[in-house]
Amino acid sequence: MTDTLTAAAQRILELRTELDAHNYRYYVLDEPSIPDAEYDRLFRELQALEAEHPELVTPDSPTQRVGGEALSAFGEVRHEVPMLSLGNAFEEEDLRAFDRSVRNGLGLQGGDLFGGGVEVEYSCEPKLDGLAVSLLYRDGKLVRGATRGDGTTGEDISVNVRTIRNVPLKLQGSGWPDVLEVRGEVFMSRAGFERLNASQAEVGGKTFANPRNAAAGSLRQLDSKITASRPLEFCCYGLGQHSAEPAATQVGMLERLKTWGIPISQELKLAKGIEDCLAYYRDIGERRMGLAYDIDGVVFKVNNIEDQQQLGFRARTPHWAIAHKFPAMEELTELLDVEFQVGRTGAVTPVARLKPVKVAGVTVSNATLHNMDEVARLGVMIGDTVIIRRAGDVIPQVMQVVSERRPADARPVDVPQQCPVCGSAVERTQLIKRSKGRETVSEGAVYRCVGRLACAAQLKQAIIHFVSRRAMDIEGLGEKSVEQLVDEGLVGSPADLYTLQFEQIVGLEGFAEVSSRKLLEAIADSKRPTLARFIYALGIPDVGEETAKVLARSLGSLQRVTQALPEVLTYLPDVGLEVAHEIHSFFEDEHNQTVIQHLLERGLQLQDQGELGAEFAASTTLDGLLDKLNITSVAATGAKKVADETIKRLAASGEGKPEQAVRVQHVAELCKDWLSFSVLKGVNEKAKQALRDFFNDDGRFNKAKEIEQQLIDFGMHWSAEKKVLEGLPLAGQTWVLTGSLEVMSRDVAKDKLEALGAKVAGSVSAKTTCVVAGPGAGSKLAKATELNVPVLDEQAFIARLADYGISAE
Ligand code: IVH
Repeated sequence: MTDTLTAAAQRILELRTELDAHNYRYYVLDEPSIPDAEYDRLFRELQALEAEHPELVTPDSPTQRVGGEALSAFGEVRHEVPMLSLGNAFEEEDLRAFDRSVRNGLGLQGGDLFGGGVEVEYSCEPKLDGLAVSLLYRDGKLVRGATRGDGTTGEDISVNVRTIRNVPLKLQGSGWPDVLEVRGEVFMSRAGFERLNASQAEVGGKTFANPRNAAAGSLRQLDSKITASRPLEFCCYGLGQHSAEPAATQVGMLERLKTWGIPISQELKLAKGIEDCLAYYRDIGERRMGLAYDIDGVVFKVNNIEDQQQLGFRARTPHWAIAHKFPAMEELTELLDVEFQVGRTGAVTPVARLKPVKVAGVTVSNATLHNMDEVARLGVMIGDTVIIRRAGDVIPQVMQVVSERRPADARPVDVPQQCPVCGSAVERTQLIKRSKGRETVSEGAVYRCVGRLACAAQLKQAIIHFVSRRAMDIEGLGEKSVEQLVDEGLVGSPADLYTLQFEQIVGLEGFAEVSSRKLLEAIADSKRPTLARFIYALGIPDVGEETAKVLARSLGSLQRVTQALPEVLTYLPDVGLEVAHEIHSFFEDEHNQTVIQHLLERGLQLQDQGELGAEFAASTTLDGLLDKLNITSVAATGAKKVADETIKRLAASGEGKPEQAVRVQHVAELCKDWLSFSVLKGVNEKAKQALRDFFNDDGRFNKAKEIEQQLIDFGMHWSAEKKVLEGLPLAGQTWVLTGSLEVMSRDVAKDKLEALGAKVAGSVSAKTTCVVAGPGAGSKLAKATELNVPVLDEQAFIARLADYGISAE
């Protein structure tokens, strides 16, 4: 043997061993350790070597096989019509070559006098990144589901596919062939994947590196209950065996299948000629990151089915279809270092510094690591080779460590003891879980710099947030200017903005006379914010704009907001105990109190302080209070019984109007009245004992009275019946805005809807009242149509606003 031949033989063996190992991890374990792009490179290297040395090709080489092995735990299914793969095109030229070979095969190549020839029609479909399955329908009923396996033999996953919500168990309509084998991709949306990983991480379960792995891991579960709990979806792209041809074209066939209830892609298009195909590729390429699911390319298929048959197959791929691939969303790179960044609330978060790598066309050199729990979960060390993923609008993420490639000098990631910005101590936060009056404290994943506004990083972020458009809306203060003001020592808290002098700022970078004057005017103009804006601007952890609005609307005054006890705050819509405690401890903090006091002393006046929100005042009931006291074993129904009984007793005793006079004190009397309480029906023994214990414990009883007193001071009243409110016209409604609006921005549209009393939500559900959809609307619009939620375009929306006397201006 010559030297080059031995070297080639050696490398071929190495590549086969490595690819076999990756194939096993990918197809059998659903746990690949390298990204697809890296696999493709290795695969292509092997293909090239084998092409150079055909004598070294063996039938067991990974290049000679279609795909995965069948998992023995499932039964086997033989595919009557083999499940094949697709050839790949990476460059435009590959695609033109494909078109030429199609035209050749169909005898269209000669062209007319002008050389153009007849254009071939192609169906254009996204190439979903999931896993191929076959669904067999006999007489319109789903009788079998199978994976692709090696293309000839797959696994029987009938029980599992039945749990996929959009797979019809019975076909709709009529006219379907007696035997119809539908093929398509089972996949998971990005949102579904994120949700699944978050809940898996919470219970310490297995998390997945990407939606494809999550889909594969979920579908091939031996326990179909697990599959059922996973957000899987199906999308059909073709047929296997079928006793009759549903249509003469690929697009016609898919559309016919759709009428039988089989889900197909919303992006399906018909192209005339290869230029149309390229335009489709570019269009989807641009929208790719905004789609709800991962796609790794698009697929073009000769549309006419007779033409497909004429063109036929190669060994493992059809001559009539091709996948035009996009750049990979996952790549390998090296973790050079981990740095720690300090955010607005002092959270010290690890950020990965990476050897720059191109991921889906963008060079990535930083990625988020979220928190130290995530670092531990990934088991990542500095020096590791890691998989980076870029998907949607999110910051690139470190998904996985390639542990086989860990260098000997890899270092662990340590949290700094001192804040990298201000040198204050860094403390681990505590996680306090509260339920039924009990608190359990554990160590949190977040580390926090204790420096507060004395930490330049926190101060800068706090001010940037304070002045931002949706907060105090002070124009002319960008990030750079805020940094200067802080670095020059001119601003040490948001309140200092209101004492800035012209002489202090003029001459700073970017501040000439005019801009300095303008900035001071903008600061002065911001002195009369609404209560909601002000609360939002304070930057209370976990209090976004929505919660700030709820606080303002319900409590009506800054004083009530700052004083409210956590239990009282939980009466507010969408405020849970955790957030309630965050709010309460924010206002209890002396430093925060000083900043607020300074702001008020320096002329800040809240525009709209007033009464307690009517809706809120009416929402308090005695049983609601009992429920909020979180007494072990006392559920809402028990609380209601006890409250009703207390009111009855009071009415019978003739002491005033019961709905006004009834108090926690009276509940305590009932609970302590052994005889009457013992015979009370509808409350179990355990709950009764818990109530007695509660009221016998002075500390807890007093706390209950304190909460009650605050509710009364705030102007709430116990009412036996809820009052019907004279609400705003859209009160109680939930609207969703999607797509781009042209006349008004979405922010403006949102404000207008909220002014009419509607809630504006981010996703569509059966509870959505109405969807406003502009051009470019995608999955939300589809969901609305699916759920029969009314949809308005922007013009109709403006007309609707006009009905309520609101202009689009
Ligand atoms: S057609 C003979 N259409 O890509 C035709 N495949 O590389 C075979 N895929 O195994 C497949 N979207 O899992 C086809 N619109 C689409 C597809 C698609 C995703 C997957 C499928 C297949 C693999 C081929």
